Amino acid sequence: MAYIEIEHATVRYGDGKNAVLALNDVSLTIEKGEFVCLIGSSGCGKTTLLNAIAGFEGLSSGSVFIDGKQVIKPKIEYVTIFQNYGLLPWRTALKNVELGFKKIGVPKREWEARAKKYISQVGLEGFEDRFPHQLSGGQQQRVAIARALAVEPDVLFMDEPFAALDPITRMKLQDDVLQLTRIHNKTIVFVTHDVEEAVFLADRIVVLAPNPGRIKGIATVRDSKGCDRTSERFIRGRNKIFELLDMKQKTEERPIEYFI
Ligand SMILES: Nc1ncnc2c1ncn2[C@@H]1O[C@H](COP(=O)(O)OP(=O)(O)OP(=O)(O)O)[C@@H](O)[C@H]1O
Ligand SMILES: [Mg+2]
Repeated sequence: MAYIEIEHATVRYGDGKNAVLALNDVSLTIEKGEFVCLIGSSGCGKTTLLNAIAGFEGLSSGSVFIDGKQVIKPKIEYVTIFQNYGLLPWRTALKNVELGFKKIGVPKREWEARAKKYISQVGLEGFEDRFPHQLSGGQQQRVAIARALAVEPDVLFMDEPFAALDPITRMKLQDDVLQLTRIHNKTIVFVTHDVEEAVFLADRIVVLAPNPGRIKGIATVRDSKGCDRTSERFIRGRNKIFELLDMKQKTEERPIEYFI
């Protein structure tokens, strides 16, 4: 059995003529340590799929297993980073990072050192005592990443975590996340609209299509991951994903397999 197994996942919202088939019979497996990006147009079901895997969204039918256990509700071992960062405004960066420690049973005397370690890993040493409103959007996002890593989860779910950032900050954070995943070897499911972001970060890119939400294709990234973004290799990989996004495909067809 693969580490994450999504079997025939279907999510239907509403009834009758207002019904939306946000996910239709989606099956996907993810290996431990893999970085998987979900990409596709707005409304194709990326967030629905992410939330279904993370346990925030109940399935109408089908099932999700992580590490052999069926996912029914969110767990502390599987942490989600949302687009709005989810920081508590009345707590400093340090106190935000400490947030999950009680739940996972970290002894109180270790909290500060552990939070500081992760704050420094995301490049925010010296910012421990700032409140979220005293940090830029990119810095807040770094605190959210530090907080997620600090509970040392097995799986990280990220829903367009960099969408609100300018391109330069975004690239810097992509570099950092890639670096951090190389140190920590987490399993990551990452939603993005940005083809280049997916090609830079992912081991596999899952392209979704809307109405009904389904998997259109899966690209295994061999050469382009972590590459110089101006290199020919990277641009070739990126162009393949654009092709895949453009491709017409009937609802009942099998997902297209790609290697980039
Ligand atoms: N709670 C809900 N009730 C009804 N319909 C919903 C609900 N949540 C999502 N949908 C619909 O399900 C479909 C998939 O939504 P989802 O949020 O998963 O898309 P997405 O791919 O994440 O889009 P975006 O890129 O815009 O975030 C859309 O058609 C959306 O309108
Ligand atoms: Mg979404």
